[in-house]
Amino acid sequence: MKFGNIHVENPFVQAPMAGVTDAACRTISRKFHSGIIFTEMISAEGLCRGNWKTLNYTRINEEHKPLGLQLVGRDPERMSLAAVKAEELGADFIDINAGCPQVRITSTGCGGAMLKNPEILANTVSAVKKAASIPVTVKMRLGYSKDDSIHISGMVRDAGADLITIHGRTVAQKFSGHSNWQAIKDIVEFLDIPVLANGDARNEQSAVELLDNTGAAGVMIGRATRGRPDLPGTAFSLLENGHFTRMSHNTLRDTMLEHARLEQELFDELGGMKRMRKHVTWYLKAAGLGYDSHQVYSLETMKELENFLEIIRGKN
Ligand SMILES: Cc1cc2nc3c(=O)[nH]c(=O)nc-3n(C[C@H](O)[C@H](O)[C@H](O)COP(=O)(O)O)c2cc1C
Repeated sequence: MKFGNIHVENPFVQAPMAGVTDAACRTISRKFHSGIIFTEMISAEGLCRGNWKTLNYTRINEEHKPLGLQLVGRDPERMSLAAVKAEELGADFIDINAGCPQVRITSTGCGGAMLKNPEILANTVSAVKKAASIPVTVKMRLGYSKDDSIHISGMVRDAGADLITIHGRTVAQKFSGHSNWQAIKDIVEFLDIPVLANGDARNEQSAVELLDNTGAAGVMIGRATRGRPDLPGTAFSLLENGHFTRMSHNTLRDTMLEHARLEQELFDELGGMKRMRKHVTWYLKAAGLGYDSHQVYSLETMKELENFLEIIRGKN
């Protein structure tokens, strides 16, 4: 997959997910695949003001590269300033969030609300493109309450976007119904820039299907990568070799401990473990292992996690 000056072999990508794809998660992801990596959405305002919390979410390590920093905002000037700061921090490309359906985001005209005003979105893309010297990409849905995707994606392309990710739902749909893969295919055929297809890739097989059915340059996988940081790598293996191997239970255990350690580095011992608890449930669920959620949500220290993970031993 190629866009701007970025070239990666692996077309499968973990989606930006707020509260999930923080710097710890990104370091873990990189252990399993060599594709592009996204931050979660980062407030353009927070970045402009140098808010420490935002900077913590933004943390970029050399190993995360090539890394896209996703900005959420609505003012072309502030988005441009944030993009310049993101570039200084080491981002390899800027992704503009034009799809988030959460009311706390859309009520301020940001995220999915930008699809109600495609002119503002297009102005933002061209302003960011002018301000930054790295590629600019846009992640959008099909439209706000109806499918306007051909019209809007055309405007976004004309404004200078180097790549567009399409989640095949409208903003109003949130996560209901299905991602419309045919609509994504139509956009791929209409646009002459790379498209990442997104929505409802649930495992290796459906990720490859989404790629094949749409003819997209790549596939972005969200919910199915929770507890499966290896999924972009195993999906690539299925595409290339016709088979893949899931990580062993020993690797799973080591991965969880490493992930917890990295969360603690970012958010202190207790704060990191609190953030880690949901990951523990995702890892175990994805591996088909049962767990007592009361026990998981009581974890406070690394020692407790180590003891808890003894349940995995003997299940290899
Ligand atoms: C917990 C969660 C957080 C998300 N946060 C973001 C975000 O920060 N930025 C974004 O563009 N999309 C975000 N999304 C949407 C995903 O990137 C993706 O578009 C969506 O989950 C559909 O893909 P999937 O069917 O593979 O999950 C989020 C989704 C989830 C479930």
